Amino acid sequence: MAILPILKYPDPRLRQISRAVTDFDAGLAELAQDLRETMVSAPGAGLAAPQVDRPLRIIVMDDTGEDEPYGEKVLTLVNPVIVAMDGEQIFNEGCLSVTDLQSDVHRAATVTVTAQDLTGAFFTLTATERRAVILQHEIDHLDGVLFLDRISRVKKDMYRKKLLKSQKMAKKS
Ligand code: NI
Repeated sequence: MAILPILKYPDPRLRQISRAVTDFDAGLAELAQDLRETMVSAPGAGLAAPQVDRPLRIIVMDDTGEDEPYGEKVLTLVNPVIVAMDGEQIFNEGCLSVTDLQSDVHRAATVTVTAQDLTGAFFTLTATERRAVILQHEIDHLDGVLFLDRISRVKKDMYRKKLLKSQKMAKKS
């Protein structure tokens, strides 16, 4: 069990297309546990395996109810696929791999996802509001897509310039 280092944009490894999980073994259970610990310690709302340089289709998400302490409930989804989407919502998103940026993103209001658990058993989940956003955001990571790709070009360019500038400053000091 370990807290894993999280890759930061613009690391090209965040752009990898993750492979489907085929082995539901102890290694997968350990990766899931590490993802949960890494997410909770960050803390974050969700985390996808490629963010810790393991390009496999597995995500974890915080599923804590409003009156429960954070980290109490974490869902693990293996090979998740969005099978239905409905409506639209705008949600202010951030990402553990994108330092110092939050931005409104347009997403579906409701999603239905099929996935497997750590034993390989299939299940279906329908989510709305914040949970629907997390699912869409994390499943995007499995295809190398970041929320940055879903905001305006102007905003993305501004962020990239700011990031370059701070990297240059860091090198000087
Ligand atoms: Ni993210």
